[in-house]
Amino acid sequence: MSETRIAPAASALQSAKRTDLSRHVGTELRGVSLLDISDADVVSITHLIAERGVLVFRDQHMTLEQQIAMGRRFGKLHVHPAYADAKHPEALRIHADANTRHVAGEGWHTDVSCDVEPPGISMLRLEVVPPVGGDTAFASMYAALEELSAPMQAFLMDREAVHAGDVAFRGLYKSKAIVEYPVNNHPVIRTHPITNRKLLYVNSGFTDRIKGLRARESKALLQMLFDHVAYGIDFQCRVHWEAHTLTMWDNRCVQHAACWDYFPETRSGWRVTTVGEQPYLDRN
Ligand code: SIN
Repeated sequence: MSETRIAPAASALQSAKRTDLSRHVGTELRGVSLLDISDADVVSITHLIAERGVLVFRDQHMTLEQQIAMGRRFGKLHVHPAYADAKHPEALRIHADANTRHVAGEGWHTDVSCDVEPPGISMLRLEVVPPVGGDTAFASMYAALEELSAPMQAFLMDREAVHAGDVAFRGLYKSKAIVEYPVNNHPVIRTHPITNRKLLYVNSGFTDRIKGLRARESKALLQMLFDHVAYGIDFQCRVHWEAHTLTMWDNRCVQHAACWDYFPETRSGWRVTTVGEQPYLDRN
């Protein structure tokens, strides 16, 4: 009697070729088609990204509608408070060309940390890339915290910071829109809900001040932390884009900065992003 065996679903991650981009942050996975992953792969990717902060997938040919559907498998999708696409509110156009004055993501930041439940995973897919340049730099906020001295970590523990949409949208991008952008307080050191690791959670894009400090103290301390991230080459990596690369990053545990060194060339694609949870600190 012949026996029929049902082969276990192959895990896309197990068969992928894995290359870490730096010691602390970033991993490239070759040979995965994100349109064909299983539910178990979604869980594995969610865990791997919580550890590595950034995952790079090459050759992801998909429409925007497919990207949105793929993104939804990782959680409820975020609607950007300032730049949601009119036709696809869950998507954000990332585009720069010869007419561009500011590119999205200049300067170190985590996406929209002014929200009460700031973004979890961002998924950016570029369709057009410049002949050279246009990298995205990432920095691990686990390592950024660990690299601070013990007394500084102790000082920052249990502090809260104000994150304001105006800092980025009116400050950097000069928006004149008559709307109120979100303002919310978050712990300066937060716990990642999947890894349970603590990490530094202030960024120059959105963090306005540290509560309970005098304005001058807060400004100086934040500037020190922003510089610590920007100059932290020991805990950074760079993603070099190809057309149809899709990069996912976990906004809880990395910051990023888009490098605009390719003017007047075109760089273009779409980002979808999941909604995260309200940041918290678990001291244990
Ligand atoms: C962003 O901040 O989401 C943009 C990143 C990039 O264009 O590399």
